[in-house]
Amino acid sequence: MSVLKATNVTKRFGDFVALNGVDLEVNQGEIYGFIGPNGAGKSTTIRILLGILKATSGDAKIFGLDVWKDAVEIHKRLAYVPGDVNLWPNLTGGEVIDLFVKLRGGNNKNKREELIEKFDLDPTKKCGTYSKGNRQKVALVSAFASDADLYILDEPTSGLDPLMENVFQQCVTEAKQEGKSILLSSHILSEVEKLCDRVGIIRQGEIIESGTLNELRHLTRMNLFVETRQPITRVAELNGVHNIEEKDNGLSFQVDTESLDRVIQHVSQFEVVKLESAPPTLEDLFMRHYESSQSGVGGRD
Ligand SMILES: Nc1ncnc2c1ncn2[C@@H]1O[C@H](COP(=O)(O)OP(=O)(O)OP(=O)(O)O)[C@@H](O)[C@H]1O
Ligand SMILES: [Mg+2]
Repeated sequence: MSVLKATNVTKRFGDFVALNGVDLEVNQGEIYGFIGPNGAGKSTTIRILLGILKATSGDAKIFGLDVWKDAVEIHKRLAYVPGDVNLWPNLTGGEVIDLFVKLRGGNNKNKREELIEKFDLDPTKKCGTYSKGNRQKVALVSAFASDADLYILDEPTSGLDPLMENVFQQCVTEAKQEGKSILLSSHILSEVEKLCDRVGIIRQGEIIESGTLNELRHLTRMNLFVETRQPITRVAELNGVHNIEEKDNGLSFQVDTESLDRVIQHVSQFEVVKLESAPPTLEDLFMRHYESSQSGVGGRD
């Protein structure tokens, strides 16, 4: 069942086309990753979904209601966390959390306390004195302590350290287990990959790819560096190996995810002394997208 559905949404600022026919659908109980580089249109899409900005054309619905006309009704069941949180400087963190939770009609004190502890937040301090990361925590605690059906999170971990990033991931996973739906925007592919059931990739106001991670797997390449006792031969002849470079007594190259097993078997014949791997970056994925759109359907180099 679809909780959020945007169809052919376009947004212009004067002559500038910020969104060009964006389609997006989040189903109930699903974590949807919305990824793209800076300026791609993620926040613009989200602001339209929140009813803060009016789309130039197209249709967007949440819980079957119109995001612009029925914003009040929608917001009773929705929690939003932006990447850059502004709070009332003269209220304490605890007061702000209570305010947000009350607005969304929740009253789960245990959950509130549990989250404050998990995120290691001092709720007695005035918001004006909080660091960026602490303001972020206030917004996250408010969101996850509320009994929302849909969470819209726009780069919500931008100010958090890795430990807190972990706590955030637990919260998202728990929300999903409770049947809630989450739209999570990010410009880091690996972060989204860990959590999301499906992803949509936006670039210059257009969704260029979308689907489950398995469906997008064909787009991803692992970066490998191998050092062996004997010189490696015939790597270039293997299918799915790209960008081979000799460096630091070893070879660095990229491998299509589906060819990984075969390539590792090949390489292991030469007595591996060092093996490093790094997941594909968003940048790699875009490069591949462009390669394939230039060389026709499913192009390979
Ligand atoms: N009010 C506005 N007036 C004019 N242009 C705008 C306005 N808001 C956004 N834009 C432009 O629309 C484009 C999309 O911006 P948006 O904030 O949606 O990107 P984003 O994907 O959220 O990027 P980031 O990862 O940096 O947050 C950008 O080129 C931005 O400059
Ligand atoms: Mg943004």
